[in-house]
Amino acid sequence: MVEYGPGAGAFTATALARLRSDARLLAIDTSPDFTQHLERALGGDPRLIVATGSASDVEAILAEQGLNRVDCILSGLPFSTLSEAEARLIIDAGARLLRPSGSFLAYQMRTAVRPYLEARFDKVSHDYEWWNLPPCHLYRACLGESGVRHGR
Ligand SMILES: C[S@@+](CC[C@H](N)C(=O)[O-])C[C@H]1O[C@@H](n2cnc3c(N)ncnc32)[C@H](O)[C@@H]1O
Repeated sequence: MVEYGPGAGAFTATALARLRSDARLLAIDTSPDFTQHLERALGGDPRLIVATGSASDVEAILAEQGLNRVDCILSGLPFSTLSEAEARLIIDAGARLLRPSGSFLAYQMRTAVRPYLEARFDKVSHDYEWWNLPPCHLYRACLGESGVRHGR
């Protein structure tokens, strides 16, 4: 599993509690303050790899770990503040890395990520969590059976 923008690690801790004992979770954040905090708070878990950098460099960061395919990407990135070029790089890299049965999950205050997901994935479903403060959009994007985006 890969997490983009783990911040203080609320989702990271929950994911680790649910992942198998042989899983790996790569958490990438641009802020060293957050990645240092994550190392201190959760670094004792051997499944967790914490990297300071941009989600757009995910393929290189995974390759350094000897990994190249993932089952799930969870994104807390603020797509409404990313440049269009960076957003596309991040979504394209995620789609290349995901196994055919994998999912790209995004939680967002705004809907900015949706067009990027719809351009790159076959199926995009949406839900809305009223009980989050503030309430947020939840997106799940999947590739077709072959793992290849149809019509591209
Ligand atoms: C909405 S916060 C995530 C909050 C997190 N769920 C928590 O529990 O604290 C978004 C995070 O994305 C990070 N971020 C922004 N742009 C990024 C990028 N290009 N690559 C990786 N992380 C990024 C920010 O540093 C911030 O920690």
